[in-house]
Amino acid sequence: MRCAVFGTGYLGVTHAACMAELGHEVIGVDIDAGKVAKLEAGEVPFYEPGLAELVRRNIDAGRLSFGTSYDAAAVFADVHFIAVGTPQKHGEYAADLRYVHAVVEELAPRLDRPALVVGKSTVPVGTAAGLVERVRVLAPAGRDVEVVWNPEFLREGLAVRDTLSPDRLVVGVENRDGGRGGDTMREFYTDLISDGVPFVVTDLATAELAKSAANAFLATKISFINAISEVCEVADADAVALADILGHDTRIGRRYLDGGLGFGGGCLPKDIRALMARAGELGANQVVHLLREVDSINMRRRTRMVELARAACGGSVLGVRIGVLGAAFKPGSDDVRDSPALNVAGQLHLEGATVSVFDPQAMDNARTVFPTLRYATDPVDACRRAAVVLVLTEWPEFRELDPVSLGDAAGDRVVLDGRNCLDRSVWEDAHWRYVRLGTAA
Ligand code: UGA
Repeated sequence: MRCAVFGTGYLGVTHAACMAELGHEVIGVDIDAGKVAKLEAGEVPFYEPGLAELVRRNIDAGRLSFGTSYDAAAVFADVHFIAVGTPQKHGEYAADLRYVHAVVEELAPRLDRPALVVGKSTVPVGTAAGLVERVRVLAPAGRDVEVVWNPEFLREGLAVRDTLSPDRLVVGVENRDGGRGGDTMREFYTDLISDGVPFVVTDLATAELAKSAANAFLATKISFINAISEVCEVADADAVALADILGHDTRIGRRYLDGGLGFGGGCLPKDIRALMARAGELGANQVVHLLREVDSINMRRRTRMVELARAACGGSVLGVRIGVLGAAFKPGSDDVRDSPALNVAGQLHLEGATVSVFDPQAMDNARTVFPTLRYATDPVDACRRAAVVLVLTEWPEFRELDPVSLGDAAGDRVVLDGRNCLDRSVWEDAHWRYVRLGTAA
């Protein structure tokens, strides 16, 4: 089928390339001409394993192109995916929907024949119903343009795999008895469905909320283990061993029970806040209390990490050299949006420490957000003469560091493991003092 994907961020580029890989003809559309030029040349402007190869392969096969023209996209495609960002509004918890609205305002007046508009962006429940009305007013084809909501559940760092082998496909439709939206989507995803991917058709509101609820559940699971970690810290128990024990219970499961510095990134934090804002608007106030607690447990982990660093430096970090390993919000990504690692590095810097940061992929993004930190050339450079070393993103290259040679460069051989990712005995054997979250300090 012929489709257009509006927005060429993580979601849009991945979706466009993966849909081309499935055999569809795809045009990716963005208002940023510079970004489009890079993509046309096969360059992906962010780090996502496997994506650049996929983009190039599908451009070469003639199934994928990029452009800035809404006119061209409206003529070319029958299915139009909205894949723009919905960041948190400045000074508010609610999601900023301006980019979603901008796509609809530009696209709908150009739809003069039957077409399907498919929302993929994460939006507050009730948004799609409003867009249905707007499309009906703006599109010359009127009721022949249908709107469905098909939320995306991909993870950064695993975006290609999650898109080509998703756990489920969800399509919210306006009218489950009438309309062809659900059938068109079933046809569009036929290869995935025949691979056994569950395909769920529901109403618009349930589809929108399914995405917000999935992220809220993951955030809650992480904050749950981090709240229990706080108990472990005062009860002299071990939060990692405890998570393993809980994980053996198949009703609970081990995934998303990695305690430590907590969640960050462009999705979980802003999505729980957007859900709080929307639930509050609708009068469902009790869930707001739950999610507020999830958010504050998460933010407390960052404060705790700073406290541990301060304690390791004898009560103050003023004038002390600190090595920070990790800036990305998680390994496999160069994304530093709401990164716990960069947040902790920044707090220590603001308390007067000389902070030296290394990350395998996120250096440029980190430098843009926090230009006043020192950025090192490698892990050894970051840790040179450091009174304390903080491991804040669990990149495999940090797990595999040799504590003996790092110890020769570092000052006091104190390591704070913010992600429970180091082998304690190996570091202690190399005469490091090893401290981590979730155990008595
Ligand atoms: C998240 C969801 O997992 C995706 O399903 C969703 O599509 C996406 O948001 C989105 O809304 O676009 P992502 O932000 O890429 O994906 O990252 P995750 O892998 O879920 O990790 C989120 C954060 O939680 C990271 O900072 C990670 O370090 C942290 N985390 C994760 C933990 O602290 N503990 C865990 O056990 C797991």
